[in-house]
Amino acid sequence: MSVQKFFGADGVSVERVVINGPQGSSAEVYLYGATVTSWKCGGKERLFVSRQAKLDGSKPVRGGIPLVFPQFGPGALPQHGFARTRQWTLLSAEEHGQGVVVNLQLKDNEDTRASKWPFKFDLLYTIDLTATTLSTIIKYENVDSQAFSFTSLMHTYLRVPDIARTTVAGLKGVPYLDKIKGGEGLVEERDLVTVDANEDRVYIDVPGAVEVACGGESVGIRRFNFKDIVLWNPWAEKAAEMSDFADDEYPQMICVEAGTVASQISLKPGQTISCGQILTFNSSASHI
Ligand code: BG6
Repeated sequence: MSVQKFFGADGVSVERVVINGPQGSSAEVYLYGATVTSWKCGGKERLFVSRQAKLDGSKPVRGGIPLVFPQFGPGALPQHGFARTRQWTLLSAEEHGQGVVVNLQLKDNEDTRASKWPFKFDLLYTIDLTATTLSTIIKYENVDSQAFSFTSLMHTYLRVPDIARTTVAGLKGVPYLDKIKGGEGLVEERDLVTVDANEDRVYIDVPGAVEVACGGESVGIRRFNFKDIVLWNPWAEKAAEMSDFADDEYPQMICVEAGTVASQISLKPGQTISCGQILTFNSSASHI
């Protein structure tokens, strides 16, 4: 593990943690937003980061795994909340029997307490890398004297060789809100979901694991205390509107985002909940 420091926007110091795991696996995490920007295993990069992404702390990273907290989407706070634009603290990094585990922390501060979500909180983010898995788990703690509620999500941008050949298994029979159709409620009928247009869907209460497959390889996504899955690809029209996403990049990515966003997570004073995902690389697509 090493920590690289450099200067970003307005001379702000940017720090990136580089993690080397077993069998050539590796990951990189920016302390800005605690954004995982790289996960390599099986000899390839598995996460997508736009070549136009800002990596200087001037805006949320367009790619990797930005963290959405305490608000998913638009609302009283800036889009997707404040966690993805804060400096997190690196607490520890150590090897264990099968890989490397890194712990990061975000607590409330003067800014967050002055925001529309003014509560005192403590987030402990554990990133655990093994030869074939990347596990990202947040322990959310209410350190306030009053109860609070929030939504949260791991906005995972997976790199795929070609969106036209990419399938997502595990969503059949799951109700979803189609944000492109104004939030219409529908039910997924396909065994294997494919994407061929601007898609923005919230699959609600997904019962099991999902698997994203392309070109004979796949990444499985198992969730822990997160209920929902957001599926997003901006396609050509939305890509053209984003300054930090190149026009020709949408065929190389799919966002499959584990979170609880259709309902709220509520914590009383002193309560905690741990939620997260385990990404598992498979050199063959098993289609769960
Ligand atoms: C997804 C939302 O999670 O994130 C989309 O469902 C949104 O509606 C997308 O467009 C990207 O959001 P942002 O704020 O990173 O551009």
